[in-house]
Amino acid sequence: MKGLVVYGTRYGTAAEIAEEIAKVIREEGIEVDLLDVKSVKDSDVSLYDLVVVGSGIKMGKWTKQSLKLLKKNKEALANRKVALFVSCGSANEEKTRPEGQEKYLDEVAQKNLINPPVATGLFGSVYDPEAKHGFMYNFYMRFAKKEMEKQGIDPNIRHDYRDWDEIRSWARGLADLLKNE
Ligand SMILES: Cc1cc2nc3c(=O)[nH]c(=O)nc-3n(C[C@H](O)[C@H](O)[C@H](O)COP(=O)(O)O)c2cc1C
Repeated sequence: MKGLVVYGTRYGTAAEIAEEIAKVIREEGIEVDLLDVKSVKDSDVSLYDLVVVGSGIKMGKWTKQSLKLLKKNKEALANRKVALFVSCGSANEEKTRPEGQEKYLDEVAQKNLINPPVATGLFGSVYDPEAKHGFMYNFYMRFAKKEMEKQGIDPNIRHDYRDWDEIRSWARGLADLLKNE
């Protein structure tokens, strides 16, 4: 049994989630490779029983490379257990911006996979007023800041909206699927 956790990230948030997922699956006794999608070769996915693919979301989109990985490996992935996750701002406020599950996970799975994924994970992001990632990042964070102010949340301190217990439990669920085969 072998698993692959592969992630596409622009600001590092999905990478940290992927690291934790890989760590938990390893702790369950399953061999796991963790790769940045930029370093995956086309044929790599065929070596694995479980393939977890995750991405950060920017302007409603996965990273180009992670979508390309799904598309290029459509046939190979049809014969494997595939799980998808995203890290996005809408997961921080699922009640007011509920588009995440449908747009970023269900639609991506329908368009790019032959068989439905064994699991999907909608995970939150990080708000960090000190982070420096350029114009687009600052623009989005100004919008996030206004939303936080409306909700009475202090925008001057870092907030990690990733629910690490939820992420670990999701990863354990994937390991269980492999172990129970
Ligand atoms: C320029 C920009 C655009 C974003 N667009 C969206 C969006 O359309 N929907 C959303 O839910 N979150 C959006 N976010 C929040 C990101 O999805 C979130 O910060 C995520 O954790 C980024 O993952 P990454 O660091 O792995 O790239 C955006 C963030 C930035 C900086």
